[in-house]
Amino acid sequence: MTKPETFKLVGLAGSIRSASVSRAILQTFKDVMPEGVELTIFDLAEVPIFNQDLEADLPASVRALREAIASSDGMIVISPEYNHGMSGVIKNAIDWVSRPGYASILVNKGVAIFTTSESPLGGARAQGDLHKMFLSTLSRIAPGREVSIGGTAKSVRDGRLIDETLIRRSLALIESLLDEIRLIQGRPKRMKSSPAS
Ligand SMILES: Cc1cc2nc3c(=O)[nH]c(=O)nc-3n(C[C@H](O)[C@H](O)[C@H](O)COP(=O)(O)O)c2cc1C
Repeated sequence: MTKPETFKLVGLAGSIRSASVSRAILQTFKDVMPEGVELTIFDLAEVPIFNQDLEADLPASVRALREAIASSDGMIVISPEYNHGMSGVIKNAIDWVSRPGYASILVNKGVAIFTTSESPLGGARAQGDLHKMFLSTLSRIAPGREVSIGGTAKSVRDGRLIDETLIRRSLALIESLLDEIRLIQGRPKRMKSSPAS
């Protein structure tokens, strides 16, 4: 009998406020993950502002973040749009773990990128920032239809994403991430494909 396939994913939200929509969306992903996929949300609240002076003796929170990413099969990253870009919280976290440049734990790490905002655009203007950043870290961005989660006054309620279309599109991108991880790790291709509508 073949062992069921498993994946360990780490989720990073680019907002640390208690009522964060970004975190609520990650929580929803956790609820609807395909079988065998475990998503652990890493809280970035304790990660200090990047300071190269501290690289020789990393703060405990940064070590924990590095360990969480290094031991994962891939990442799900969601950033709110702030001033037409990604949030400082997410940029700061990635700056910490992106060293040494071109040889960090982010090299060949699969990543699925999501953005969110209250506007109907869903933070679409921050998508390019995240793509550019993860290209620079030599990470493997899951290809697929961009998922920018907007209209959050309606699409997010009681700490969960409730818009079925957005959940379906998010799952399609997560399936693409799993495919990317299979490629990176030389796992066999999955047998059945899911619709990416
Ligand atoms: C400093 C700041 C800048 C923002 N800039 C934008 C923006 O440029 N475009 C946009 O659509 N929303 C913008 N917003 C709205 C946020 O994207 C929205 O409130 C989002 O839900 C915040 O994420 P969170 O709920 O995870 O904290 C901004 C919010 C803040 C606090």
